[in-house]
Amino acid sequence: MKPLADRIAVVTGASAGIGESIARFLAAAGAKVVVNARREERLHALVRELGGTANAAAVAGDAADQTVIQTMLDVAKHTFGGGGREADLVVVNAGRGLRGSVYDSDSAQWEDVIRINLLGAARLMRAAAERMAGPVPIVRGAPPAQPPPPPTPPADWLSRPRDIVILGSTVGRHISPFSSMYGSAKAGVHMLAESLRRLMAPRGVRITLLEPGIVKSEFQDAAGYDRESFGKFMDAISPVLTPEDISRLVMFIVTQPAGMHICDVMVRPTRQEYP
Ligand SMILES: NC(=O)c1ccc[n+]([C@@H]2O[C@H](COP(=O)([O-])OP(=O)(O)OC[C@H]3O[C@@H](n4cnc5c(N)ncnc54)[C@H](OP(=O)(O)O)[C@@H]3O)[C@@H](O)[C@H]2O)c1
Repeated sequence: MKPLADRIAVVTGASAGIGESIARFLAAAGAKVVVNARREERLHALVRELGGTANAAAVAGDAADQTVIQTMLDVAKHTFGGGGREADLVVVNAGRGLRGSVYDSDSAQWEDVIRINLLGAARLMRAAAERMAGPVPIVRGAPPAQPPPPPTPPADWLSRPRDIVILGSTVGRHISPFSSMYGSAKAGVHMLAESLRRLMAPRGVRITLLEPGIVKSEFQDAAGYDRESFGKFMDAISPVLTPEDISRLVMFIVTQPAGMHICDVMVRPTRQEYP
């Protein structure tokens, strides 16, 4: 039996790069996969490549939009979970970079960078966690006199792992003046991931932060890096990582037994010294 034969996955940012590759690896391992991005034609081509609608489904749209997020999770539940089982493997991947510092980056793009990398990630993390573990009550006013009983995981948690894998970045941990707004968004994502991990751990849901260094993809163009100078930098530290390198890591993480959690992984090209 394939290692992910029982799993229902959602991958955002799956029309290119890391997300597209992760979707391929998950599907090859037997998972049913809902793929999201804004470029619809690419998603449909990917669904065809993954064996058609029996194995994959496309939800096109902005991954920071609440309606799109709920649609992805609904499609996972109703198309692949028989209307009862929710997605149990969500990859929070959609994102984009932005070249430059606070001083010289294009400030007209700041909101978009924060919206998709930070707010979109937070919205999907919350929605996916609620579906996997149930809503956490919002405490308003004074804390209760008696602390609530500790949460318990679902009865089947050891036989059915639940994973939320979040793409952070080395730039979110090591301050870089060359991608300040993007790095700030990813630093925020790191905080969100660890704070959600602490809430979800007793509930049996694994929240994993994956922090890659430089991966060759469409990312560099979308971020506005100068092709010639960034290309020279990548040549100087070659080989840089590939989306397939990241996908192998994701596979390693999500195929561990449910009682074991690889929480936080940083991965760089061997010759990348910084960031
Ligand atoms: N490449 C690197 O060096 C590197 C390093 C560390 C971390 N990361 C992170 O890894 C993730 C994937 O990056 P990548 O390298 O694969 O970049 P990529 O090749 O540019 O792919 C980005 C993907 O995100 C999608 N996307 C962007 N904005 C979106 C939105 N608002 N709604 C839905 N989808 C959106 C894009 O599709 P559409 O344009 O079709 O929407 C595309 O599928 C990002 O979170 C990135 O920050 C990348």
